[in-house]
Amino acid sequence: MDEIVALAKRRGFIYPSSEIYGGISGFWDYGPLGVELKKNIKKEWWRSMVQQRTDVVGIDAAIIMNPKVWETSGHVEAFADALVECKACHKRFRADKKEEIKEHGKKEHPGMEIDLTEARNFNLLVTAQFGVVDKEEVYLRGEITQGAFVNFRNVLDSTRVKIPFGIAQIGKAFRNEITPGNFTYRSREFEQMELEFFIKPEDKEGKKWFDYWKQERFQWYKILGINDKKLRFRKHEPTELAHYAKTAEDIEYEAPFGWSELEGIHNRGDWDLSKHKLQYKDETGQEYTPWVVETSGGADRSTLFFLIDAYQKTDDRILLKLHPKLAPYKAAVFPLLANKPDLIDIAKKIYDNLRKRWMVAWDDRGNIGKRYAYQDEVGTPWCITVDFETQENSTVTIRDRNSTDQIRVKIDQIEKELQKNL
Ligand code: GAP
Repeated sequence: MDEIVALAKRRGFIYPSSEIYGGISGFWDYGPLGVELKKNIKKEWWRSMVQQRTDVVGIDAAIIMNPKVWETSGHVEAFADALVECKACHKRFRADKKEEIKEHGKKEHPGMEIDLTEARNFNLLVTAQFGVVDKEEVYLRGEITQGAFVNFRNVLDSTRVKIPFGIAQIGKAFRNEITPGNFTYRSREFEQMELEFFIKPEDKEGKKWFDYWKQERFQWYKILGINDKKLRFRKHEPTELAHYAKTAEDIEYEAPFGWSELEGIHNRGDWDLSKHKLQYKDETGQEYTPWVVETSGGADRSTLFFLIDAYQKTDDRILLKLHPKLAPYKAAVFPLLANKPDLIDIAKKIYDNLRKRWMVAWDDRGNIGKRYAYQDEVGTPWCITVDFETQENSTVTIRDRNSTDQIRVKIDQIEKELQKNL
């Protein structure tokens, strides 16, 4: 983890927030490369969950909502307990559940004295105040989810969706985490990528769609290059279910700090829509409260785990083996020598042309080996070098990040070559 954190800082992926003032626990800033990686993850999520589907539409709801939303959804009440947290694995317990805590210690950390944080009367929802004279207290959303439920009727009335259908959303959420940690893994401000999928209210339907979305989400991580041996499902015990969930399974990743939740798949039943008194009328005129199967992943957690999974250190280089679709730069362009204007001219033209389509890096500093090493470290899949042969036959070398193999291609074929591999 120390190496990943150092790389993230050194190469501009992730910085501690407000660092020049000593930072602030649980908050992080994305640098020039981190913002690209995270944006690419969100883009791929949206492509797979909205763009490529006929049964899902997207929304972007406000972070601050009428406080009644949070009272109705049960969040104000359900997160107001005194909590302690196991310092070894961050599992939280109601402070009064002594037996459960003891059992947990025996089962998960045998032979160790269980080490707990102080009990705190604790509400997960972050509050804010606004208004010039009479300040009104509001909540920053603790999950982006409620935006999809309170807009359920708006979406039905303004689109042609019919059950089964989903509402997808990506956005910031905020939580008063007691012990933020493991880099960005547990933050107080984070971004979620969620689907609320509305179905007929039946156990059979619930199970069918729950299994379907579990597999879809697992495959998504796999297709984008995560080593599937480091992914697994973990079913929630009845005692750890969130207040809204009938059943839940996490997709976990084996991080350097242990198996950790990457995404949650929840059968929320009719909890939310019935609380908000929202119903659905089908073609026959029959009214019912739909059930909801939810997939809830974290954009920051995904970014962290894609980084960790891609990180490789060998004797001679550090490599981020990111999927090309996720890599911050798709390519880097180099003139072989920085003091040869003819080479620079050709390279600049290639660079300017590719930049119209993709994020592309330019580098003319130092020797070519150092430039390759830098691009390997930030995960750039292809490096294009303009050399003396370019002047003779209009070809460049394209070096592949993973194999370090080089091929020569005509300048007018570069774009096609990159496109083929993307
Ligand atoms: N709407 C359901 C929901 O919010 P959750 O399991 O509490 O469920 C879903 O959160 C996902 O959001 C997690 O799997 C994780 O990826 C992300 N997430 C939750 N809390 C987080 C935190 N403190 N820091 C970073 N990501 C977090």
